[in-house]
Amino acid sequence: MTTLDPVHPWGSLTELAADAAVCTKCPLAETRTQVVFGVGDPSADLVFVGEGPGAEEDRQGIPFVGRAGQLLTRLVEGIGLTRDRVYICNVVKCRPPGNRDPLPVEIDACRPYLEAQLDFLAPRVVVTLGNFATRLLTGTKLGITKVRGQEFPFRGDAVLIPTLHPAAVLRNGGTALAESRADFVLVKRALARGHDA
Ligand code: URA
Repeated sequence: MTTLDPVHPWGSLTELAADAAVCTKCPLAETRTQVVFGVGDPSADLVFVGEGPGAEEDRQGIPFVGRAGQLLTRLVEGIGLTRDRVYICNVVKCRPPGNRDPLPVEIDACRPYLEAQLDFLAPRVVVTLGNFATRLLTGTKLGITKVRGQEFPFRGDAVLIPTLHPAAVLRNGGTALAESRADFVLVKRALARGHDA
């Protein structure tokens, strides 16, 4: 087997985070308080990828610490894990002003950070939260409601499980919450499967 050339210039997750922290590749750099790179256990089997930081995340520098984050924390705890045993990050590392959707130019600029982050984390299970992360990492054009409830092969041996964004679950409640919980059961099973394989 031939050795592949490194596809990115960073030697470690720490180096990558330090570089991202001073990024000025897109206009979000002008309006952010700080870069929100990611949080959790860098050797976690399970990585969550959201859309982009909101106001509270921009203030604290930590992903998913607002209301949607509190729901994510509860869902993680619902499958017997804690936030510090998983890793949480976003498609874009800087807050889109007014919580608008990230623009294609912002997603493209930030994508090398996410791809390299996933290279270093090398999780067994990736959960994409909502349309932006799901579309970016699976290449689908379908909406999250069509693709959730399924598993997709990811980067060889890993699996990707798309689920509703917790902010959408907060808005829609009821069925959406039940669907989220069902998706987290898939996540739990995927994690367990790797261990007795
Ligand atoms: N929504 C996201 O997609 N990411 C966060 O970090 C917070 C809210």
